[in-house]
Amino acid sequence: MLEQGEVIETSIMKNSVIAVTMATSRQGVGVVKELSKTNKYQIRAITRNIKSSKAIELGRLKNVELVKGDLLDPESLNNAFAGVDVIFGNTTPTKGWKLFRGSIVRSYEMKQGFNLINQVKISYEKGQLKHFIFSSISKAKDPLKNDPAPGHFTSKWAIEEYIDKLDLKKITTVLRPVSYFENFENKLPGYSISKEIFPGIVGKNFKWQTIAVEDIGKWVRGVLSKPEKYKNQAINIAGEELSGLEMAMTLQRIISSERLKTNYVMIPRLAIKLLEYDIGVMADWIERSGYGADMKKLKLIQNELNIVPTTLKDWLKAKLEDQNKTNNSWARQWKSSQWKLQWDK
Ligand SMILES: NC(=O)c1ccc[n+]([C@@H]2O[C@H](COP(=O)([O-])OP(=O)(O)OC[C@H]3O[C@@H](n4cnc5c(N)ncnc54)[C@H](OP(=O)(O)O)[C@@H]3O)[C@@H](O)[C@H]2O)c1
Repeated sequence: MLEQGEVIETSIMKNSVIAVTMATSRQGVGVVKELSKTNKYQIRAITRNIKSSKAIELGRLKNVELVKGDLLDPESLNNAFAGVDVIFGNTTPTKGWKLFRGSIVRSYEMKQGFNLINQVKISYEKGQLKHFIFSSISKAKDPLKNDPAPGHFTSKWAIEEYIDKLDLKKITTVLRPVSYFENFENKLPGYSISKEIFPGIVGKNFKWQTIAVEDIGKWVRGVLSKPEKYKNQAINIAGEELSGLEMAMTLQRIISSERLKTNYVMIPRLAIKLLEYDIGVMADWIERSGYGADMKKLKLIQNELNIVPTTLKDWLKAKLEDQNKTNNSWARQWKSSQWKLQWDK
């Protein structure tokens, strides 16, 4: 017999259909791969182009079906969401780089977000949708030092408010990741990661929360295992909290037999602001307030949800192993001629 107030976990049944928006994005790929591995779900991987090489690769995974959908086209979303039990929703502020603007466009992301939430509402009202997971961005550690926050953060928080406005919080889990480890692979000449350079966007002593992008998939798998408990919740998620110096030291320890020194190298703030102004605002924000994941509390939730976070050490080791396999030099593999700053967007 149930005690008063006791909640029965109604873990989503096998063959539930899950739609993943922006499936070819770094987050989307992480989510689709993780859910595919469980063999518990039918995954609808939504992309604007089902013929791209990334999409085709996803389509080869078990239980994955490619579906065309554009966050700027509500009708396409409506079709893509028909009959789904769960939606993982994600948006992007990246609109293509322009001189004097950079590539981050707040209004571009908000438009996608409002279309997405409107369609979530329609799917919910039709009666089949049970759970919506929205991927946002971590809130500030110190809310009093939040302003000015980066535009591509406030856009996501505005979408969260819209979820509330449409009375969808009751079926929604908001996951709020911090910066990806993958940003360390930025393509800025002179600041690309190598055994001797560990690049960062903040001063060497600032503690800074980061996460492996694939871990967002683990979080989605985790909350889907206890949907009733994690609906109506928002969680800032991170895997590590290290300073730039500590990150560089982590790499140095891995390659200790090679007698090389790994230096933490901070990309000059002015250069960041010239290339991508909002990332510069973000770097100021990280130094002023920082991401707000509660690392102790996360450990408890991770245990409950069977999530083993990727450590920076393991992530770096895996990168090194990859390059050994392909017989590339680390420097060659982690450099590119492309001028692109892909930090957190
Ligand atoms: N970088 C970080 O450290 C970090 C940390 C936390 C949160 N975030 C946030 O995470 C989100 C995703 O970032 P990401 O780096 O994973 O993405 P990403 O790899 O840059 O991929 C962006 C994807 O967006 C899709 N897309 C673009 N416009 C679209 C539209 N109108 N409708 C549907 N899909 C569209 C594209 O897919 P198709 O062309 O295949 O449709 C592309 O695969 C962003 O909002 C970012 O701000 C990033």
